[in-house]
Amino acid sequence: MTTGPSRSGALTLGDNTRIDSARLWDSLMAMAQIGPGIAGGNNRQTLTDEDAQGRALFQSWCEAAGLSMGVDEVGNMFMTRAGEDPDALPVYVGSHLDTQPTGGKYDGVLGVLAGLEVARRMNDLGIKTKHPVVITNWTNEEGARFAPAMLASGVFAGELSLDYAYARKDMEGKSFGDELARIGWRGTEKVGARKMHAYYELHIEQGPILEAEECDIGVVTHCQGLWWLEFTLTGKEAHTGSTPMKMRTNAGLAMARILEMVQEVAMDAQPDAVGGVGQMQFSPNSRNVLPGKVVFTVDIRSPDLEKLTKMRSQIEARGAEICAELGVGCTIEPVGHFDPVTFTPELVTAVRGAAQKLGYKYRDLVSGAGHDACWAAKVAPTTMVMCPCVGGLSHNEAEEISPDWAAAGTDVLFHAVLETAQVVE
Ligand code: GLV
Ligand code: MN
Ligand code: MN
Repeated sequence: MTTGPSRSGALTLGDNTRIDSARLWDSLMAMAQIGPGIAGGNNRQTLTDEDAQGRALFQSWCEAAGLSMGVDEVGNMFMTRAGEDPDALPVYVGSHLDTQPTGGKYDGVLGVLAGLEVARRMNDLGIKTKHPVVITNWTNEEGARFAPAMLASGVFAGELSLDYAYARKDMEGKSFGDELARIGWRGTEKVGARKMHAYYELHIEQGPILEAEECDIGVVTHCQGLWWLEFTLTGKEAHTGSTPMKMRTNAGLAMARILEMVQEVAMDAQPDAVGGVGQMQFSPNSRNVLPGKVVFTVDIRSPDLEKLTKMRSQIEARGAEICAELGVGCTIEPVGHFDPVTFTPELVTAVRGAAQKLGYKYRDLVSGAGHDACWAAKVAPTTMVMCPCVGGLSHNEAEEISPDWAAAGTDVLFHAVLETAQVVE
């Protein structure tokens, strides 16, 4: 990989000033101790006791760095480093500390702790900025426990209502609102009351392009759009041994055909389209009972809105046909959506400029995953920075990055944030 100019030990702000990569890495490793997974990664799902512990650790680090905390009604954490101009809106930096059930150590976590490292480095150097800088931990980015993903940033952006968020249920029937109160992170700030001068998010790529092209930095120009379509299929519970094939109302078979059909629709929409199913529930889920009910969520994505809309209507129409042929009942409920996003050109230019002056190898990138930045972009100038991850692997406990990649991304974040927050001394 291209590493760029060597790290400067001098504690003065210049074009070549770097963040403290060892401190950043230590913080990443310390956070990874909370909610360990079963294969070297993490299970720190949103609104669990482990999430509360991760939040408390982050809070303690931020307070030690002199940041002051605000928490809103959906548990979003805002840690403020004061600016010099009382009228200047803050520059926000953030991502998420929650993980998938078998998640990696860096998805989201890097963006939050890189924000903290930016603030710590500003302290080291005695930097003052016109605009405050606020490090944010968004609640429930992953959507693994409560659909949809990016739930709390969606409420912040005014795209989802507070009541909708509170009513979301996990697989055990526990609600988001109750679980947020239970772990002690239901704050009092009105969601979305804060106004942003700008929003930056650093994230691992979660795809293979940067590593394959030996790039240190992805300058993210767009994010692809998404639909999550929850299918509920109704069949007839019956004995798997004694029910003749012709007499079955087989919701499991309908599900299998729909999975094949989703694959075909996505392949027909190549390039720049994906589709698949990651979650399903059979009921009663017994080996010798044909399922009476099957629930699963189709995830489709594309950076092209027309293509995304067409895929959705094809999947809904063909799904209904498949079920009708088999006599299976079918309802389809959208449980997650955002349109493709174009990030703010001025901020994209700031990221590209920072990568260039630091000597990192960079390229433009479209984000394949969804991020809180997608909702922030609705209410503020927004962009993202990406760094590589090994083999493009993410949403897997084996997700890995190098300390140099983490540092490069954070260096670029640092310089882009300083440019936007305007150094005054
Ligand atoms: C968020 O992690 C997503 O599903 O892209
Ligand atoms: Mn993420
Ligand atoms: Mn994720």
